[in-house]
Amino acid sequence: MRFLIDTFSPEAAKHILDYYPADGVTTNPAIICREKKQLKPTLMELREAVGDKMLHVQTMQTEADAMLDEALSLRDALSGCRFFVKLPCNSEGIKACRAIKSKGVGVTVTAVFSPMQALVAARAGADFVAPYVNKLEDVGEGLRCVKEIKELFDIHALPTQILSASFRNVRQVTEVALFGSHYATLPPAFFDKLVYHPMTENAVKGFEDDWQELYGDKKPIDLIK
Ligand code: G3P
Repeated sequence: MRFLIDTFSPEAAKHILDYYPADGVTTNPAIICREKKQLKPTLMELREAVGDKMLHVQTMQTEADAMLDEALSLRDALSGCRFFVKLPCNSEGIKACRAIKSKGVGVTVTAVFSPMQALVAARAGADFVAPYVNKLEDVGEGLRCVKEIKELFDIHALPTQILSASFRNVRQVTEVALFGSHYATLPPAFFDKLVYHPMTENAVKGFEDDWQELYGDKKPIDLIK
């Protein structure tokens, strides 16, 4: 499984890309509204931040024709990165998915809450489907949904990838990775949690104490001089 950053903050995206092996950025209208930043300049900054990596941006249009127009316009404005338009998993989104794919634009079908939605999106040519794990886990279905989507895609040899979103804890991320989710998109603050372990902190402290006692400092080891 690979990682994406779920954010509308170019600063946070740059920071995470500097530290962690993430493949790009996803956004959605809720995240955008939470940041309260200017839409267009921030999108352009995000494009700069991701370089040639992925950028997934959701349309707010509600009809398939308008979704297509917006997808083409976003694709042109955000050229340089690997752009994917996010479409809601409803009838207009599925109709738009086919039309947008026929124009060569990448599509992520989002707000997926059932395996059958994912199967229809995949048949419509979606590059990615985004199941909302934690939101569904509230009714005990999030992890099972990802597992069943993976099974359906394998059984029917569908190339669409699973981009799991909406997590409350690291265990959920581990579970979707074990089920074969291709991607997990995580808020910036989540990345440190993926690698934090108190026993690692203790081990590092032990190394430092031993080193300090024998050598007294942390000068870089230089075998040349
Ligand atoms: O990308 C999906 C995400 O924004 C939903 O996450 O934390 O609101 O369940 P959450």
